[in-house]
Amino acid sequence: MADATERPLTTAQVAAMAGVHRDTLLRWLRERRVPEPRRDRHGWRVFTVREAAAVTDYAKGDTPDPTPHARYAANPALGRLRRIDWDFPTAKTDYLTHGLHPYPAKFIPQIPNALIQELSSVGDTVADIFCGSGTTLLEALQLKRHAIGIDANPLAALISRAKTTTLTDSEFDELDEHRRACEQILMRAASPTGDLFHDGQPLRSSGWRPARKVCEFWFLPHVVEELAELRLRVGRLSSEPVRTLCTVALSAIIVSVSKQDSDTRYVRREKAVEPGDTVRRYLSQLDAATRAVREMSALIEDRFQCQIVGADALSAPLTMPFDLVVTSPPYPNAYSYHLYHRTRLLWLGHDPARFKEIEIGSHRKYSAKGRNRATPETFRREFDAIFPWLRERLKGRGYACFVIGDSRVAGAHVDNASLLAAAGADAGFREAARITRTIAPTRKSFNPRIGRIKQENILILQKA
Ligand SMILES: C[S@@+](CC[C@H](N)C(=O)[O-])C[C@H]1O[C@@H](n2cnc3c(N)ncnc32)[C@H](O)[C@@H]1O
Repeated sequence: MADATERPLTTAQVAAMAGVHRDTLLRWLRERRVPEPRRDRHGWRVFTVREAAAVTDYAKGDTPDPTPHARYAANPALGRLRRIDWDFPTAKTDYLTHGLHPYPAKFIPQIPNALIQELSSVGDTVADIFCGSGTTLLEALQLKRHAIGIDANPLAALISRAKTTTLTDSEFDELDEHRRACEQILMRAASPTGDLFHDGQPLRSSGWRPARKVCEFWFLPHVVEELAELRLRVGRLSSEPVRTLCTVALSAIIVSVSKQDSDTRYVRREKAVEPGDTVRRYLSQLDAATRAVREMSALIEDRFQCQIVGADALSAPLTMPFDLVVTSPPYPNAYSYHLYHRTRLLWLGHDPARFKEIEIGSHRKYSAKGRNRATPETFRREFDAIFPWLRERLKGRGYACFVIGDSRVAGAHVDNASLLAAAGADAGFREAARITRTIAPTRKSFNPRIGRIKQENILILQKA
């Protein structure tokens, strides 16, 4: 029973006693990591001294380590991280703008969210040096941190930008107007002979399209016309953020209207795509994107900046210094992003061959014949080059977190986390923790052998 003379404590007071931000305490309450106190008549939480003590104990990380593979230093944040159920079996993963565009091997937002909350503070800068679709960046912004993203895939930089850019009211108006204009295309596209008000011909767009060979091999002729017309309209938008968002919505539907089997299979298959379907899918993608960006724009404060750099991580890109790194690097031999995204990159006017040259880990490089074939040593050398730059950019005794699974290269098993830990150690990073999580069974890989690997590691290194 609480002492009747005891003065109730507010959420802010208890957070201060525990030495954590109020938002962190609210998350612990949401996740039932600490006991929920009663509310006063205004609905505010009021903590008893005992409840406050439970929070401070939790903040100190004073409970035994339940995970046999984890090695932890004295930092209580690491102690708290180890108690998370990293499988997040029931977590919703497509909130805010996370679902704007499919992206193979993106991590679930709950992973960077927990790492950012525990290993950085409000106002810090969080970097993802292989940012892909920008999962870390959006989580950093919504947790009131600045964000820096780097990726060599031009499509990744575009998606990350769309995912993290808020729009003004006048930009939402331009988006609505664009939508109405695209509905007009639908009237012409849906009828193979045109409609009463036009020239009685099937839709022929004057817009730009990729090389004829690409169009003929991967798309039905009417799909090419509709994509070219949509691209033309998108290109005419005056606001850069609106143009980026619409380009991403257009890119999101390209694989579904093409003959590419799926986002993770680069083989041709016939699909039934009727005239008008391409514009219809674009409109529905645009509606979902508009709703998501509206919700995100209302939540994210403009004072938190997001810098996105389209660059090779091996080229020591110039960025502001950062306080924390949360990233999921490409695994050797697992994915070939330049291939998965080839039709999209071509439609957006990018050169997949350039990205192919610098892509780390691609299945293509690891399955090449002869002397050019990449090996685990190639991957090690790449990280030997990245770590010194990372060390230079990372402030103080900051943490660098890598979410990575194992690979199979030439029939042999490769423990990528150990490989990264060794490269990090040579560059002055010590291993602070290694946590194993189960990968959702729905996650697909280009290389089926990798697809059979069911676990991945969260490797936390600290600048020594
Ligand atoms: C596993 S994905 C990251 C996914 C990301 N965590 C997300 O949630 O979307 C790895 C990323 O590394 C990028 N990448 C591959 N080689 C690169 C390089 N040399 N420099 C920078 N990024 C590269 C790929 O384009 C890909 O987006």
